[in-house]
Amino acid sequence: MDRQGVGTTITQHILKQQREKPEATGAFTTLLNELIVAAKVISREVNKAGLVDILGSTGKINVQEEQVQKLDVFANQIIIERMQHIGQLWCMGSEEDPDLIEIPAQYPKGDYILFFDPLDGSSNIDVNVSIGTIFGIYKRKEGGSGDLLLSEALQPGIEQVAAGYFIYGSSTIMVYTTGNGTGVHGFTLFPSVGEFLLSHENIRIPGKGKIYSVNEGNYPYWDEKTRALVDYFKTPDRETGRPYTSRYVGSLVADFHRNLLKGGIFMYPADMKDPKKPTGKLRLMVEANPLAMVVREAGGYASDGHGPILEIEPTELHQRVPLYIGSKEDVEMAEAFISGRVEA
Ligand code: AHG
Ligand code: MN
Ligand code: MN
Repeated sequence: MDRQGVGTTITQHILKQQREKPEATGAFTTLLNELIVAAKVISREVNKAGLVDILGSTGKINVQEEQVQKLDVFANQIIIERMQHIGQLWCMGSEEDPDLIEIPAQYPKGDYILFFDPLDGSSNIDVNVSIGTIFGIYKRKEGGSGDLLLSEALQPGIEQVAAGYFIYGSSTIMVYTTGNGTGVHGFTLFPSVGEFLLSHENIRIPGKGKIYSVNEGNYPYWDEKTRALVDYFKTPDRETGRPYTSRYVGSLVADFHRNLLKGGIFMYPADMKDPKKPTGKLRLMVEANPLAMVVREAGGYASDGHGPILEIEPTELHQRVPLYIGSKEDVEMAEAFISGRVEA
């Protein structure tokens, strides 16, 4: 805490990082600050959700063929409305919108592309379990056609210039990184001050954890390698600290954040529960890539079971990938099982 008893605000932190970049123009700072305002508004709605008519489902089905919760729609609209007029975005991609979101003609365009999951963990909204917002930011490639082409918007996660998430839980926390060794930093929202203040400086994930997170209800739909992997984490073995503890709340962002701080592995394997979704439930652009950048910068790893999430060349806006993410040793073990290097 400094003299005013406030501490480092997220704005101070971003400005300090940007001052160290000769090429910084302030555009990125503007973008991130506006996203933070949107998150503060979403946080306010989440925290009073039990009191106003913002709970429950809209009765609609989204492009993901999932029930759309009112808070999904609210969060999506808040982010789009706030971000589209700041003049820093070329376009956006949201989990809730079937196609890329164009910046309306009346607003200036910029060079950044924002992919986001406006509300992650929707099934938990009505039961007061932590939910969140996940984002990944890319810079538009030079020499594009000038048209709003998916082929020009989609880039591998390794190209992200920043990524992070907000968790709306017992407190509202923002965790983000700008990569390139700048580290992963966490900020807690102080409602009385209305500011995110630095609370988790330079987060590092333990190399090996003691927690595994997976929806075991999908066990009947997994292949042999996946079953062997989950059984491995449950098999007693003193030398490797097994069995691991099972922790799974059903909000990716909350499960990920706990494992980031404590160590462990989160898994959403491919399953045959829905033949239309043979590569698992989670989305590459709005869930896997942003968290893969955060975890890599914190010393961890994220894999689809065969290789790094960040190196996947995206082909569709809403493509789904199997996700193994967390402590490096645990994710490498998962990769060994899924890729067949370890006998099931
Ligand atoms: P979203 O609410 O954005 O659709 O994401 C929900 C995801 C993710 O948050 C969580 O890890 C996963 O769904 C839980 O899925 P299951 O209920 O199938 O375990
Ligand atoms: Mn999600
Ligand atoms: Mn969502």
